[in-house]
Amino acid sequence: MLQIKEISKTFNPGTVNEKKALRSLSLTLADGDFVTVIGGNGAGKSTLLNAIAGTWFVDEGKILLDDKDVTGLPEYKRAKFLGRVFQDPMNGTAATMEIEENLALAFRRGDKRTLRIGITQAERKMYREVLARLGLGLENRMTSKVGLLSGGQRQALTLLMATLKKPKVLLLDEHTAALDPKTAAKVLDTTEAIVNENHLTTLMITHNMRDAIQIGNRLIMMNNGQIIYDVAGEEKKKLTVEDLLRKFAEASGEEFANDRMMLAK
Ligand SMILES: Nc1ncnc2c1ncn2[C@@H]1O[C@H](COP(=O)(O)OP(=O)(O)O)[C@@H](O)[C@H]1O
Ligand SMILES: [Mg+2]
Repeated sequence: MLQIKEISKTFNPGTVNEKKALRSLSLTLADGDFVTVIGGNGAGKSTLLNAIAGTWFVDEGKILLDDKDVTGLPEYKRAKFLGRVFQDPMNGTAATMEIEENLALAFRRGDKRTLRIGITQAERKMYREVLARLGLGLENRMTSKVGLLSGGQRQALTLLMATLKKPKVLLLDEHTAALDPKTAAKVLDTTEAIVNENHLTTLMITHNMRDAIQIGNRLIMMNNGQIIYDVAGEEKKKLTVEDLLRKFAEASGEEFANDRMMLAK
């Protein structure tokens, strides 16, 4: 599904601010893999997701989606195949537009048709159904402006929008980190339901080690622009937070440092 072959990215090369953010990193995701990504501050987690999304081009290496080389494809063209949700609830939705208009925009992604054509009754019915499944009552507020929603409601809506047209890969960058714990748990439940229901290949960066262990079928740990630990299946499920901290210390020779990382057991 997704093949990343020895990609490297250096920011500000040749300056005092030079930063090697990805170092010959390789990763292959199988169809339906749900991978959680953890690592310290500045490990290169967001940079990895940006490289896949095509925010800029990598310096070296190749990225293949469904065996198609997308390394030289600009971000807006890759957006057709990808779903993304970021940390900031303000990021993924248009505040001044209605809930159903936001969904309609997502539904027309990569399409020449615009909103001027109008939302059909069949579409409206589909939006109502997907919204109802969130369990937030948004199906009864389809013409409300998104700016009126809470952060958690907006993230849930962003998640719907990112997955309405089944993406080849779903990229989640600490998408629950800005939410209060209860709302975060709810959005995370929704995430699992959507990913499992649609069998989506997913990379989810999380600052919560316990979530990283419990959610998905595979976990990768990053440090210094590389993957230092990659574990799947039963072995992943059996992990503890202490195991992860020890693995990190072994592989990196450092203590795990992430000011947002939740080490809760
Ligand atoms: N656009 C950019 N310009 C310059 N430096 C960047 C840029 N994006 C990321 N970096 C640097 O690359 C390193 C990895 O960053 P990032 O991938 O955001 O880390 P994290 O694992 O915390 O998500 C950091 O040192 C960061 O400062
Ligand atoms: Mg990040």
